[in-house]
Amino acid sequence: MKKIVISLGGSVLVPSLESNNISRYVSVLGRLAEKCRIFIVVGGGGEARRYIQVARDLGVGEAAADELGILVTRLNARLLVAGLGDAAYPRVAEDYTEAKEFAGTGKIVVMGGITPAQTTDAVSAVLAESVDADLLINATSVDGIYSADPKKDAAAVRYEHLTPEELLDIIKGCRMDAGANTVLDIVAGKVVERSKIPLLVLDGREPENLYRAIAEGAYIGTTVSEEDTIPLPA
Ligand code: UTP
Repeated sequence: MKKIVISLGGSVLVPSLESNNISRYVSVLGRLAEKCRIFIVVGGGGEARRYIQVARDLGVGEAAADELGILVTRLNARLLVAGLGDAAYPRVAEDYTEAKEFAGTGKIVVMGGITPAQTTDAVSAVLAESVDADLLINATSVDGIYSADPKKDAAAVRYEHLTPEELLDIIKGCRMDAGANTVLDIVAGKVVERSKIPLLVLDGREPENLYRAIAEGAYIGTTVSEEDTIPLPA
Protein backbone atom coordinates (compact mmCIF):
# COMPACT_ATOMS: atom_id res chain seq x y z
CA MET A 1 0.00 0.00 0.00
CA LYS A 2 1.17 3.52 -0.78
CA LYS A 3 1.89 5.88 2.14
CA ILE A 4 0.29 9.30 2.39
CA VAL A 5 1.05 11.94 5.03
CA ILE A 6 -1.69 14.53 5.50
CA SER A 7 -1.11 17.85 7.22
CA LEU A 8 -4.57 18.70 8.53
CA GLY A 9 -4.85 22.33 9.61
CA GLY A 10 -6.40 22.94 13.01
CA SER A 11 -8.58 25.59 11.40
CA VAL A 12 -9.87 22.88 9.06
CA LEU A 13 -10.44 20.08 11.55
CA VAL A 14 -11.56 22.22 14.49
CA PRO A 15 -12.68 25.63 13.17
CA SER A 16 -14.19 25.92 16.64
CA LEU A 17 -14.63 23.23 19.27
CA GLU A 18 -18.39 23.36 18.96
CA SER A 19 -18.56 23.27 15.15
CA ASN A 20 -15.76 20.82 14.39
CA ASN A 21 -15.29 18.61 11.32
CA ILE A 22 -14.01 15.58 13.22
CA SER A 23 -16.87 13.17 12.42
CA ARG A 24 -16.74 14.09 8.74
CA TYR A 25 -12.98 13.52 8.67
CA VAL A 26 -13.35 10.23 10.55
CA SER A 27 -15.62 8.98 7.76
CA VAL A 28 -13.25 10.09 4.98
CA LEU A 29 -10.10 8.79 6.69
CA GLY A 30 -11.73 5.43 7.44
CA ARG A 31 -12.50 4.97 3.74
CA LEU A 32 -9.03 6.10 2.68
CA ALA A 33 -7.34 3.74 5.14
CA GLU A 34 -8.75 0.83 3.12
CA LYS A 35 -6.77 2.04 0.10
CA CYS A 36 -3.51 3.40 1.54
CA ARG A 37 -1.47 3.88 4.71
CA ILE A 38 -2.47 7.13 6.33
CA PHE A 39 -0.45 9.41 8.64
CA ILE A 40 -2.16 12.57 9.93
CA VAL A 41 -0.46 15.62 11.44
CA VAL A 42 -3.03 17.87 13.12
CA GLY A 43 -2.56 21.62 13.51
CA GLY A 44 -3.58 23.97 16.29
CA GLY A 45 -5.81 26.42 14.39
CA GLY A 46 -7.35 29.51 15.96
CA GLU A 47 -7.28 27.99 19.44
CA ALA A 48 -3.47 27.72 19.31
CA ARG A 49 -3.25 31.34 18.19
CA ARG A 50 -5.46 32.44 21.09
CA TYR A 51 -3.26 30.65 23.63
CA ILE A 52 -0.13 32.08 22.01
CA GLN A 53 -1.53 35.61 22.14
CA VAL A 54 -2.47 35.33 25.82
CA ALA A 55 0.99 33.92 26.62
CA ARG A 56 2.64 36.79 24.73
CA ASP A 57 0.55 39.31 26.63
CA LEU A 58 1.89 37.70 29.79
CA GLY A 59 5.40 38.39 28.51
CA VAL A 60 6.59 34.89 27.62
CA GLY A 61 9.13 34.47 24.80
CA GLU A 62 8.45 33.02 21.35
CA ALA A 63 9.78 29.54 22.12
CA ALA A 64 7.54 29.23 25.19
CA ALA A 65 4.59 30.47 23.11
CA ASP A 66 5.44 27.79 20.52
CA GLU A 67 5.33 25.14 23.28
CA LEU A 68 1.76 26.21 24.05
CA GLY A 69 0.92 25.96 20.36
CA ILE A 70 2.33 22.42 20.31
CA LEU A 71 0.14 21.43 23.27
CA VAL A 72 -2.96 22.64 21.42
CA THR A 73 -2.01 20.68 18.28
CA ARG A 74 -1.70 17.57 20.44
CA LEU A 75 -5.09 18.22 22.04
CA ASN A 76 -6.67 18.45 18.58
CA ALA A 77 -4.79 15.30 17.58
CA ARG A 78 -6.24 13.52 20.63
CA LEU A 79 -9.74 14.51 19.58
CA LEU A 80 -9.14 13.02 16.14
CA VAL A 81 -7.78 9.82 17.69
CA ALA A 82 -10.88 9.65 19.88
CA GLY A 83 -13.11 10.02 16.82
CA LEU A 84 -11.20 7.44 14.76
CA GLY A 85 -11.50 4.84 17.54
CA ASP A 86 -10.19 1.46 16.49
CA ALA A 87 -9.03 2.74 13.08
CA ALA A 88 -6.21 4.75 14.70
CA TYR A 89 -3.30 3.90 16.94
CA PRO A 90 -4.60 5.00 20.36
CA ARG A 91 -1.72 7.35 21.22
CA VAL A 92 -0.59 10.57 19.56
CA ALA A 93 2.99 10.07 18.34
CA GLU A 94 5.36 12.57 19.95
CA ASP A 95 8.33 11.97 17.68
CA TYR A 96 9.07 10.40 14.30
CA THR A 97 10.39 7.14 15.72
CA GLU A 98 7.14 6.64 17.61
CA ALA A 99 5.17 7.41 14.47
CA LYS A 100 7.05 4.68 12.61
CA GLU A 101 6.58 2.25 15.50
CA PHE A 102 2.84 2.95 15.66
CA ALA A 103 2.56 2.53 11.88
CA GLY A 104 3.77 -1.05 12.31
CA THR A 105 0.29 -1.89 13.66
CA GLY A 106 -1.26 -0.95 10.30
CA LYS A 107 -3.47 1.67 12.01
CA ILE A 108 -3.81 5.34 11.09
CA VAL A 109 -1.04 7.26 12.90
CA VAL A 110 -1.84 10.71 14.33
CA MET A 111 0.67 13.36 15.40
CA GLY A 112 0.63 17.00 16.45
CA GLY A 113 3.54 19.43 16.83
CA ILE A 114 7.05 18.38 17.87
CA THR A 115 9.46 21.23 18.49
CA PRO A 116 9.43 25.08 18.60
CA ALA A 117 10.09 27.47 15.71
CA GLN A 118 8.12 25.57 13.09
CA THR A 119 4.55 24.52 12.35
CA THR A 120 2.86 21.18 11.81
CA ASP A 121 3.58 21.61 8.08
CA ALA A 122 7.24 21.00 8.91
CA VAL A 123 6.28 18.01 11.06
CA SER A 124 4.31 16.53 8.18
CA ALA A 125 7.17 17.05 5.72
CA VAL A 126 9.74 15.44 8.05
CA LEU A 127 7.31 12.62 8.79
CA ALA A 128 6.81 12.07 5.05
CA GLU A 129 10.57 11.85 4.65
CA SER A 130 10.93 9.53 7.69
CA VAL A 131 8.36 7.02 6.49
CA ASP A 132 9.34 7.39 2.83
CA ALA A 133 5.84 8.54 1.90
CA ASP A 134 4.62 8.54 -1.68
CA LEU A 135 2.71 11.78 -1.25
CA LEU A 136 2.33 14.69 1.17
CA ILE A 137 -1.00 16.51 1.26
CA ASN A 138 -1.59 19.83 2.96
CA ALA A 139 -5.32 20.18 3.71
CA THR A 140 -5.71 23.81 4.60
CA SER A 141 -8.29 26.61 4.62
CA VAL A 142 -7.52 27.84 1.11
CA ASP A 143 -7.63 25.92 -2.18
CA GLY A 144 -3.93 26.08 -3.02
CA ILE A 145 -0.90 28.35 -3.00
CA TYR A 146 -1.54 31.90 -4.22
CA SER A 147 0.64 34.73 -5.47
CA ALA A 148 -0.65 36.78 -2.49
CA ASP A 149 -3.05 36.16 0.41
CA PRO A 150 -6.37 35.57 -1.42
CA LYS A 151 -8.28 36.58 1.73
CA LYS A 152 -6.68 40.05 1.56
CA ASP A 153 -5.80 40.60 -2.10
CA ALA A 154 -8.49 40.20 -4.79
CA ALA A 155 -5.79 40.12 -7.51
CA ALA A 156 -4.11 37.02 -6.02
CA VAL A 157 -3.86 34.08 -8.46
CA ARG A 158 -3.61 30.40 -7.59
CA TYR A 159 -0.63 28.42 -8.86
CA GLU A 160 -1.60 25.12 -10.48
CA HIS A 161 1.92 23.78 -10.17
CA LEU A 162 5.23 24.83 -8.63
CA THR A 163 8.67 23.29 -8.55
CA PRO A 164 10.14 22.90 -5.01
CA GLU A 165 12.53 25.77 -5.82
CA GLU A 166 9.64 28.05 -6.78
CA LEU A 167 7.84 27.09 -3.57
CA LEU A 168 10.92 28.02 -1.51
CA ASP A 169 11.15 31.42 -3.24
CA ILE A 170 7.54 32.12 -2.23
CA ILE A 171 8.07 30.99 1.37
CA LYS A 172 11.32 32.88 1.92
CA GLY A 173 9.61 36.25 2.37
CA CYS A 174 7.36 34.97 5.20
CA ARG A 175 7.87 35.57 8.95
CA MET A 176 8.13 32.74 11.49
CA ASP A 177 6.67 34.08 14.77
CA ALA A 178 4.69 31.75 17.02
CA GLY A 179 1.24 31.38 15.49
CA ALA A 180 2.32 32.92 12.18
CA ASN A 181 -0.07 32.17 9.32
CA THR A 182 1.99 31.42 6.20
CA VAL A 183 1.39 29.15 3.25
CA LEU A 184 3.97 26.61 4.48
CA ASP A 185 6.90 27.16 6.82
CA ILE A 186 10.48 27.25 5.60
CA VAL A 187 11.43 23.91 7.19
CA ALA A 188 8.56 22.26 5.34
CA GLY A 189 9.66 23.88 2.09
CA LYS A 190 13.26 22.74 2.52
CA VAL A 191 12.25 19.18 3.34
CA VAL A 192 9.88 19.03 0.37
CA GLU A 193 12.79 20.15 -1.79
CA ARG A 194 15.38 17.70 -0.48
CA SER A 195 13.08 14.68 -0.10
CA LYS A 196 11.55 15.09 -3.57
CA ILE A 197 8.24 13.89 -2.11
CA PRO A 198 5.39 15.35 -4.19
CA LEU A 199 3.13 17.80 -2.36
CA LEU A 200 -0.52 18.67 -2.99
CA VAL A 201 -2.08 21.69 -1.28
CA LEU A 202 -5.88 21.61 -1.29
CA ASP A 203 -8.90 23.03 0.51
CA GLY A 204 -9.56 20.78 3.50
CA ARG A 205 -12.62 22.67 4.75
CA GLU A 206 -14.60 20.13 2.72
CA PRO A 207 -13.32 16.68 3.85
CA GLU A 208 -14.56 14.97 0.66
CA ASN A 209 -11.93 16.99 -1.27
CA LEU A 210 -9.33 14.77 0.34
CA TYR A 211 -11.12 11.59 -0.65
CA ARG A 212 -11.70 12.74 -4.23
CA ALA A 213 -8.04 13.72 -4.63
CA ILE A 214 -6.58 10.49 -3.30
CA ALA A 215 -9.15 7.95 -4.53
CA GLU A 216 -10.24 9.59 -7.78
CA GLY A 217 -7.37 11.90 -8.73
CA ALA A 218 -9.82 14.82 -8.88
CA TYR A 219 -8.75 17.98 -7.10
CA ILE A 220 -8.47 21.74 -7.19
CA GLY A 221 -5.22 22.86 -5.64
CA THR A 222 -1.51 23.41 -6.14
CA THR A 223 0.93 20.59 -6.82
CA VAL A 224 4.63 20.88 -5.96
CA SER A 225 7.11 18.51 -7.60
CA GLU A 226 9.97 18.41 -10.08
CA GLU A 227 7.67 16.66 -12.55
CA ASP A 228 4.63 18.37 -14.07
CA THR A 229 2.17 15.97 -12.44
CA ILE A 230 2.02 14.14 -9.13
CA PRO A 231 1.16 10.45 -8.69
CA LEU A 232 -2.17 9.98 -6.91
CA PRO A 233 -1.70 6.56 -5.38
CA ALA A 234 -5.02 4.99 -4.52
P1 UTP B 1 0.10 24.91 13.44
O1 UTP B 1 0.92 23.96 12.71
O2 UTP B 1 -1.30 24.61 13.71
O3 UTP B 1 0.16 26.33 12.73
O4 UTP B 1 0.82 25.24 14.80
P2 UTP B 1 -0.57 26.74 11.41
O5 UTP B 1 -0.21 25.80 10.33
O6 UTP B 1 -0.28 28.19 11.22
O7 UTP B 1 -2.14 26.65 11.77
P3 UTP B 1 -3.36 25.77 11.21
O8 UTP B 1 -3.55 24.68 12.19
O9 UTP B 1 -2.99 25.29 9.84
O10 UTP B 1 -4.50 26.73 11.19
C1 UTP B 1 0.34 26.26 15.69
C2 UTP B 1 1.51 26.86 16.39
O11 UTP B 1 2.12 25.88 17.26
C3 UTP B 1 3.54 26.04 17.29
C4 UTP B 1 3.82 27.29 16.43
O12 UTP B 1 3.79 28.43 17.26
C5 UTP B 1 2.64 27.30 15.47
O13 UTP B 1 2.42 28.59 14.92
N1 UTP B 1 4.20 24.80 16.79
C6 UTP B 1 3.51 23.83 16.13
C7 UTP B 1 5.55 24.62 17.02
O14 UTP B 1 6.22 25.49 17.59
N2 UTP B 1 6.15 23.46 16.60
C8 UTP B 1 5.48 22.47 15.96
O15 UTP B 1 6.11 21.42 15.63
C9 UTP B 1 4.13 22.67 15.70
